[in-house]
Amino acid sequence: MYSSPATINVLKPLDVANLPAGKTAIEIENLNLFYRQKQVLHDISMRIPKGKVTAFIGPSGCGKSTIMRSVNRMNDLIEGCKVEGNIRLLGKDIYDEEVDVSALRRRIGMVFQKPNPFPKTIYENVVFGLRLQGIRNSRVLDDCCEQALRGAGLWDEVKNRLHENAVNLAAGQQQRLVIARAIAIEPEVLLLDEPTSSLDPISTLTIEELINDLKTKYTVVIVTHNMQQAARVSDYTAFVHMGRIVEYADTDTVFTSPKEKKTEDYITGRIG
Ligand SMILES: Nc1ncnc2c1ncn2[C@@H]1O[C@H](COP(=O)(O)OP(=O)(O)O)[C@@H](O)[C@H]1O
Ligand SMILES: [Mg+2]
Repeated sequence: MYSSPATINVLKPLDVANLPAGKTAIEIENLNLFYRQKQVLHDISMRIPKGKVTAFIGPSGCGKSTIMRSVNRMNDLIEGCKVEGNIRLLGKDIYDEEVDVSALRRRIGMVFQKPNPFPKTIYENVVFGLRLQGIRNSRVLDDCCEQALRGAGLWDEVKNRLHENAVNLAAGQQQRLVIARAIAIEPEVLLLDEPTSSLDPISTLTIEELINDLKTKYTVVIVTHNMQQAARVSDYTAFVHMGRIVEYADTDTVFTSPKEKKTEDYITGRIG
């Protein structure tokens, strides 16, 4: 379709190096992380914008998952893990003594590489978090279930089989179900750690389209080692190498005119 120059979107990307507080979802400041004696994250400072998709790319073992786990305090569960520095969610320190970690994880949903539905019905998977919150009204639960499944682009495929076991769904559907489960409790942030790496190309495409819809309501952070995926789905990209952020900017800049030689080497396949 012809679009006149006036309708072409000319919005400039945000300058993530100078993101104002009002546009920041997550602020990471001087983050150092150790597994026992071994330091795996080095002095990471960055601001992740609200209502956008931010991708972390980098070779296997560079620390991408560790960064994600720091953001919802999953690293608390790992013995010998020590965290230094600050992480703020909408301005509030998440490592503050007074933070209720379960409440924090409700605000920051996480989806992993392998779909992990509970061995329960589709319906019970989606309303799981709501039941935990003590919601019993079945009309409320039914409505939330439908909304979450619609939000995850799965409703039409499962609306007639809500009471079947979720483990019988195809892998791509399971992953969308897990996303529905995560959004049913209306988190502020969704962390997706290589959400499509165990899926076929069609399911991957479906999830990528879904990610684009999700950012209208949530801040999305995605780890991927598929650079084409990062280029397709994200607004901003951080390149991580050996536990450091080498470069972080809008995705176009990172992929078309990176400032750092290491980034260029990585995206052109010279390091990996
Ligand atoms: N639970 C753990 N205990 C000790 N070392 C770990 C643990 N988890 C990850 N690591 C190490 O931390 C580094 C970063 O890992 P990770 O964050 O999983 O990387 P990525 O997600 O980029 O592949 C790697 O060297 C990995 O071996
Ligand atoms: Mg990982």
